[in-house]
Amino acid sequence: MKNNLYDINQRTEWFRKDRFGMFIHWGLYSIPGKGEWIRSHQRLSIEDYQPYFDTFYPTDYNPREWAKQAKRAGMKYVVLTAKHHDGFCLFDSDYTDYKSTNTPIGKDLVAEFVEAVRQEGLKVGLYFSLVDWYHPDYPKYQDPYHPMRGDSRFEDDTFDLNRYVDYLHHQVKEIVTKYGQLDILWFDFSYEEMSGETWRAEELMQLVRQYQPNVIVDNRLEGSGEGFGSIVTEQITSYSGDFVSPEQIVPHEGIRNYKGEFIPWELCLTMNNNWAYNPTDYLYKSSKTLIRKLVECVSKNGNMILNVGPTALGVIPQESQDILADIGAWIEKNGESIYGCGISNLPKPEWGYYTQKGNTIYAHVFEQPIGPLALIGIDKNQIKRMSFLHDGSEVSISSSFTTLAYEDICFAQYGEVPHFTYPLPDEIDSVIKIELKELADEN
Ligand code: GLC
Repeated sequence: MKNNLYDINQRTEWFRKDRFGMFIHWGLYSIPGKGEWIRSHQRLSIEDYQPYFDTFYPTDYNPREWAKQAKRAGMKYVVLTAKHHDGFCLFDSDYTDYKSTNTPIGKDLVAEFVEAVRQEGLKVGLYFSLVDWYHPDYPKYQDPYHPMRGDSRFEDDTFDLNRYVDYLHHQVKEIVTKYGQLDILWFDFSYEEMSGETWRAEELMQLVRQYQPNVIVDNRLEGSGEGFGSIVTEQITSYSGDFVSPEQIVPHEGIRNYKGEFIPWELCLTMNNNWAYNPTDYLYKSSKTLIRKLVECVSKNGNMILNVGPTALGVIPQESQDILADIGAWIEKNGESIYGCGISNLPKPEWGYYTQKGNTIYAHVFEQPIGPLALIGIDKNQIKRMSFLHDGSEVSISSSFTTLAYEDICFAQYGEVPHFTYPLPDEIDSVIKIELKELADEN
């Protein structure tokens, strides 16, 4: 099965326009509330973890509400953990009993989720763990992450990895056939020998593409948050995926392949320091930081998928709801500078970032200027019009005496007196829309 950057760019066209999505980490681990790696971190056996299966009863589960909150925040797609590393399925799989339909809630939660997200007019994706700490045929004793790693009770454990991979393929088939058209499939993750053809990835991708020709897949059938994978190389594999998935880091110049061509990428980012619900993790990033990171991603041709970890009952934590509302308020006024936008080939300004769409440049001003603002790289003769995006008010080319010695530089000015300093209208990010007469160079 062939794969190339042309097809990747075709498939990801909507994704590269939409730029902003919601990640949802939610499952049995939301009950102990110490993150989705709890079994591994605390070396919990299946039996130790069983009480969470027996009591999983998210009475407030209302995916329509999640989708509404995502939409209000300006997010265009939502991705839910259909199965995480603990192996528990939020969907009704025919190949395991370890699934939500067998817990007190007794429902296929993925079916309700995909429906709700689509009803809100958003794109829908599912996260599916390649790692499985429940399946008897997954490596245990010698695995670096398994909860039973190095445990002498498992030293002589016999397992048949092939059987596990069959199981994986069966479940992926269920995911791609039972839930309608999926927009994103987020596999997670590969490491050491547990990568690529160990998952029989070529065959797996054939299966995926057979039923979901347009679905966008991440790059973790051969990688993790750590690397880029073959998508940036000359030897691109059929399972390279369609985008790189840097985790908790913004690649400083975006991501390009060996030829210098841009590759789609998506920053996955937590609001605090946990993916799944953790009520004692108060270290939330500010709305300001998160809005600015989204802008930074777009300015480097990337997306951002921002995570929430709903409670055991199914509610997005209040802190996260507040952040979503703040982001939504900013996007409502400034979304035009995010959606459909990407890198501009102007040098990065000292006061913030530029994003660009066709012949419009958006100056994202983070830092309060004194007097007029230098728009380095922009030719004043090319400017048709400048205005603040949030209210349409005019921004002019400065004629202040303070700028006269720098005649090659274009300065923007807002407020009455040319050399006075006026507070920025939005201290998070004030966006100046700069419409150019001719098409500026675009990457
Ligand atoms: C990691 C972690 C995981 C999380 C994911 C999100 O690979 O294993 O718990 O789901 O990244 O990007």
